[in-house]
Amino acid sequence: MNSIIPLPYLTDGSLIIRLATSDDIPAILAFFTANREALGPVEPRRPDNFYTVSFWEMRIALNLSHYEQARNACLFVFEPNDQTVIGDINFTNISGYPHHGCTLGYALAQTQWGHGRMQRALQLAIPWIFATFNLHRVAANHLPDNERSARLLQKMGFQREGMARDYLLIDGFWRDHILTALTHSDWQARDHTAPLVHKQRGKH
Ligand SMILES: CC(C)(COP(=O)(O)OP(=O)(O)OC[C@H]1O[C@@H](n2cnc3c(N)ncnc32)[C@H](O)[C@@H]1OP(=O)(O)O)[C@@H](O)C(=O)NCCC(=O)NCCS
Repeated sequence: MNSIIPLPYLTDGSLIIRLATSDDIPAILAFFTANREALGPVEPRRPDNFYTVSFWEMRIALNLSHYEQARNACLFVFEPNDQTVIGDINFTNISGYPHHGCTLGYALAQTQWGHGRMQRALQLAIPWIFATFNLHRVAANHLPDNERSARLLQKMGFQREGMARDYLLIDGFWRDHILTALTHSDWQARDHTAPLVHKQRGKH
């Protein structure tokens, strides 16, 4: 277990991004309950106990453990009061050499859609994930008809790479997804990976 990765507390004054603690459970439940219908069509189906305190006690402990192991960074987006949850940002499947990548997923409370708030959140979170885990690639995939998400990723510089058939079980159905990714053009090897990387691209 790597317990030396600093816990994130990212803010631009208009929102705060961090891991949740058990004190945040009422706010997390309020967020998911209020947005159950709005998020249902774009997310995997939730387990029956998802909307319970006991589920989130377990999930918050797991999120911290996975963060310390550099596996996932499952973060919440808070209002500047640091108490009201308005969204989540999940960096999952973090992997090291030779991929150095992860997958990004996100959701915002429906009341907040269309105000550029997820863009502001990602402007904080993406540079942080690249730097903290020394990543080269962040992938993000969306349903073909999720134009708002497509536009958001485009604005963040993600490039469309293709389409995967029956890619994820969304709302109980296998759904095609558009695959996009952002890569770090100035990525530098660190520590033990340094001797394994040629300085010039394509050199064998
Ligand atoms: C996707 C989501 C995070 C976007 O966050 P947001 O803060 O609303 O994003 P923005 O306000 O920056 O809007 C994104 C862009 O979509 C555009 N947009 C808004 N409504 C739209 C619509 N109905 N159709 C197409 N584009 C739309 C906006 O105009 C904006 O583009 P612009 O800045 O060029 O004008 C948010 O809508 C959400 O949580 N949706 C439900 C969950 C979800 O879809 N998650 C992603 C799964 S891949």
